[in-house]
Amino acid sequence: MDKLVVRGGQPLHGPLAVSGSKNTALPLLTAAVLPAGVTTITNVPALRDVNTFSNVLRVSGAHVQYDAATHTATIDATRISHPEAPYELVKQMRASFYMLGALLGRCGQARVSLPGGCAWGPRPVDLHLRGLEALGATVDLDEGYVVARAPGGRLPGGRFTMEPSSVGATVNLLLAAVTARGPSRIENAAMEPDVVVFGNALREMGARIEGLGTKTIEIEGVDELHPVTFANTPDRIELGTFMILAAMAGAKGEPFEITDASPEHLGDAFCDAFRATGATFEVRGTSVVVTPPVNIRAVSITTGVYPGFPTDLQQQWTVYMTQAEGASTVTDAIYLDRFAHVPELTRMGVRAVVRGNAALVEGGFPIQGAKVMSTDLRGSVALVMAGLVARGETHVLRIYHLDRGYENLEGKLLACGADIERAQYEENAAVPVEA
Ligand code: UD1
Repeated sequence: MDKLVVRGGQPLHGPLAVSGSKNTALPLLTAAVLPAGVTTITNVPALRDVNTFSNVLRVSGAHVQYDAATHTATIDATRISHPEAPYELVKQMRASFYMLGALLGRCGQARVSLPGGCAWGPRPVDLHLRGLEALGATVDLDEGYVVARAPGGRLPGGRFTMEPSSVGATVNLLLAAVTARGPSRIENAAMEPDVVVFGNALREMGARIEGLGTKTIEIEGVDELHPVTFANTPDRIELGTFMILAAMAGAKGEPFEITDASPEHLGDAFCDAFRATGATFEVRGTSVVVTPPVNIRAVSITTGVYPGFPTDLQQQWTVYMTQAEGASTVTDAIYLDRFAHVPELTRMGVRAVVRGNAALVEGGFPIQGAKVMSTDLRGSVALVMAGLVARGETHVLRIYHLDRGYENLEGKLLACGADIERAQYEENAAVPVEA
């Protein structure tokens, strides 16, 4: 298995480039199933999730090519012959569940495995299912699979109010509604940039959608969509991750440039909290220039729906706060149990405890390298960040979680002056025991 070995304490220097967004690439790949023809998506990051998702598309009959050198995915969906997403793939990646809406929209039927649990507690899909029913689908459960059908092969369309607002369910409903016979309306829809970028791609394909980026999205179904070439957006979570990294591990007082970014997608809550720590940043087109603070101030955050503080940045924030003077609280109001990184951090000497859906962090104490275990995507990048500011050597194990969502992280960090390398290890190696 792969691990990252990090020797901490090297001040980092920019520039650092942001890759294409994972959380928009997957819905965009799914959207390519809707039109009969060849859709091209550029700026698709070279990630394990993209690879897995290409296989999900192939099962349905699409031909998928991905060129990692140019970051371009080409999806030929001329024939979608098998409207199914099997358990073996869905269990690896929850985003495969988007195939439910897409296959329903394209073929009028879909058989998609229900995703299982997740490392940070239950992640229900009830809104996806009830929403599709509201659009006129029949939904049944068959041996762990959701079987959805559109009466007469095409959904009539309908209205659905989401509670809570869900990114995943909004994407799934859009996929199903854009080719419905009639109009649809989604109330309390997700306003995340991920949904807006995805919805704009559907519009370029010929979909009629109003209200993207607001709580009410209205869709007028069209007979068919046409294939397009669409540029994926930069990853807003990677941008936030790199801004935190620059603030806590960048050379003090030296501007640190992050390039190829979409700063307009950061959201006010993150920007306000970031500035409150004493870090400054300036937006220059598609670059963000961070000046690390001399002393980091402790700032508590609570995650929320966009433009709230992203749940995908709370783990990185926890590590940032270990470097601040004083105590802070990191509360996750979206996923209440997303704190598997905290016990790992305490193995590095971090003073933090989890209370309910919050981590209480006491900053300002040195942290030490240790062997730590990745448990999920954002948790693993948080451990790498901790390793970069720790004394000594940190081994971040089970790095396959990180590879799902950060393209060539060690290569990017090496270029910034980090002492980091990828190495192999034996997960169940025997521990020498004295006789
Ligand atoms: C969430 C994040 C997204 C992030 C992703 C992976 C939000 C609003 N969404 O998206 O930005 O990239 O995690 O880390 O921050 N829910 C239901 N029933 C459903 C679907 C969702 O109750 O059918 C609930 C969830 O449990 C959660 C909330 O709705 O509390 C938001 O869900 P959703 O946005 O769909 O979550 P993800 O798509 O996983």
